[in-house]
Amino acid sequence: MDIKITRTQNPMAKPLAEEEAGTLGFGNYFSDHMFVMNYSLDKGWHDAEIKPLEDLRFHPAAMGLHYGQEIFEGMKAYRTKDDRMLLFRPYENAKRWNNSCDRMCMPPMDEEMFVEAIRKIVDFDRDWAPHAEGTSLVLRPAMVATTANLGVHPSDEYVFFIITSPSGAYYPEGIDPVSIYVEDEYIRAAMGGTGFAKTGGNYAGSLKAAKLAEEKGFTQVLWLDGIEKKYVEEVGSMNMMFVIDGTIITAPLDGTILPGVTRSSVMQLAKDKGWNVEERKLSIDEICKAYDEGRLDEAFGTGTAAVVSPVGKLQYKDKEMIINDFKTGPKAKELYDSLLSIQIGDAEDPYGWVVEV
Ligand SMILES: Cc1ncc(COP(=O)(O)O)c(C=O)c1O
Repeated sequence: MDIKITRTQNPMAKPLAEEEAGTLGFGNYFSDHMFVMNYSLDKGWHDAEIKPLEDLRFHPAAMGLHYGQEIFEGMKAYRTKDDRMLLFRPYENAKRWNNSCDRMCMPPMDEEMFVEAIRKIVDFDRDWAPHAEGTSLVLRPAMVATTANLGVHPSDEYVFFIITSPSGAYYPEGIDPVSIYVEDEYIRAAMGGTGFAKTGGNYAGSLKAAKLAEEKGFTQVLWLDGIEKKYVEEVGSMNMMFVIDGTIITAPLDGTILPGVTRSSVMQLAKDKGWNVEERKLSIDEICKAYDEGRLDEAFGTGTAAVVSPVGKLQYKDKEMIINDFKTGPKAKELYDSLLSIQIGDAEDPYGWVVEV
């Protein structure tokens, strides 16, 4: 790929003090540069560029702004102890990117080109990757429809960009358990909708329920299926796993949840540890019953941002379930350690998951 490169003349200060104090947070700071590339029907992808981070310019009629034709991905680059930069299964994100493109009528991208763009911007701004344990350089590739037109149809032009953000833990709780509210009024997705695509509208529609749950002291909501409000689906930014009688159970990929890269990696690790893993519909009633009978051992979320996040409390209507005494369970802890140590290059990677920049 031909990339025009313009280095900033005004380098920004890196958030070193925040990193040292452990207060980086998630997505609060941005590196000096961004990758940008344009698409038009006649030229295809063109004008790839790494340039100083700056505002994007849109016509106020840009279709992405009005009708939500937008997609993104969520990835991380980890700095190893010997200062190499590692990506985790970037080709899985490239595949999911193209599935999102297809659903949202946006132009797909060659997987190699997608990963190459990621590698280039990570390499260029590698000094921005934080050093402390539990930190990473969060990567945000995104694409927005830019044709200026008020008709509701797919745009002819798009801008693709990647920004990077030195970040710490996603939840202030870190690996400590979070409290989750089981949402029984609002829904996130339904069969035939866009639930499996990583598109902004899915997240915009989730804000109200998340806000109400937050006001009640919960970190996130657990979505139930959109038709019967009976089967558990996923949490705001994580897939969910429940350990009942020692078996890890997670919702199937039926089109309403995001096919998490962490989900599939954790399932593989769990199977290779000899644990039972089931992908199947799991009703909230089955979870409540298992809880009452003392068979709900653990619950945890999986996602790039939080890695593995134990759930210490589930609230469904009037029923409060305190799981594993609000402590991180053994399976969540072991999976977190196994996965993270591969991601940061501390452990061997027998799966070929990590890709060095
Ligand atoms: C809605 C939703 N579900 C699940 C996930 C977890 O996916 P992954 O493991 O690929 O980060 C995410 C995060 O990207 C998400 O936004």
